[in-house]
Amino acid sequence: MQKQRVAIFASGTGSNAVNLIHYFKNHSEIEVVFVMSNKEDAKVLQSAKNLDVATFFLPNQQVANAEPLLDLCKEHQVDWIILAGYLRLIPSKLITFYQDKMINLHPALLPNYGGKGMYGSNVHKAVIANNENESGITIHFVNQEFDKGRIIAQFRCEIKEGDGVIELEQKIRYLEQSYLPIVVEKTILREEKRKL
Ligand code: GRF
Repeated sequence: MQKQRVAIFASGTGSNAVNLIHYFKNHSEIEVVFVMSNKEDAKVLQSAKNLDVATFFLPNQQVANAEPLLDLCKEHQVDWIILAGYLRLIPSKLITFYQDKMINLHPALLPNYGGKGMYGSNVHKAVIANNENESGITIHFVNQEFDKGRIIAQFRCEIKEGDGVIELEQKIRYLEQSYLPIVVEKTILREEKRKL
């Protein structure tokens, strides 16, 4: 079977992108073909290059227009897109083209703490401000409604008294590092098997 070709979109540090690249290196059925960022100076681009993965920078206007990004994905025969810390709205044309083939990582337990403005540390700040006693991560398909696509998996962590944004962020990163690659792998392999 031909390997499933994965593109990762990321805007920042890229710890999740790097983790995915490591996980799928030498994988028999899945490969990461490129990393795309909407930020020219995003650390993720250099990290991916260091790991011999192709990288592309597309400024926000080009992303918003959909065609350049869609063309890039088609040109590289991308089967799946993973949004790993990608902080920009995905154009609806791309979502339609990659229906049930685009997976997002959200650093909270959706449907709570999702939607407009809920990204990066804003999410953790809101969770802490509300005195929640737990948070977690949600891995979900992307649909036309921001943060409302079908949930694939959620993982929880406890928020202890005295935990602030920094402590919560560490717990969330631990969950992301532990679970994102395996959930992506299982989802892709399950969907591909279903098609046979
Ligand atoms: C992660 O917490 C992710 O869930 C959120 O942004 C962060 C990105 O981290 N959407 P990194 O760029 O993968 O290090």
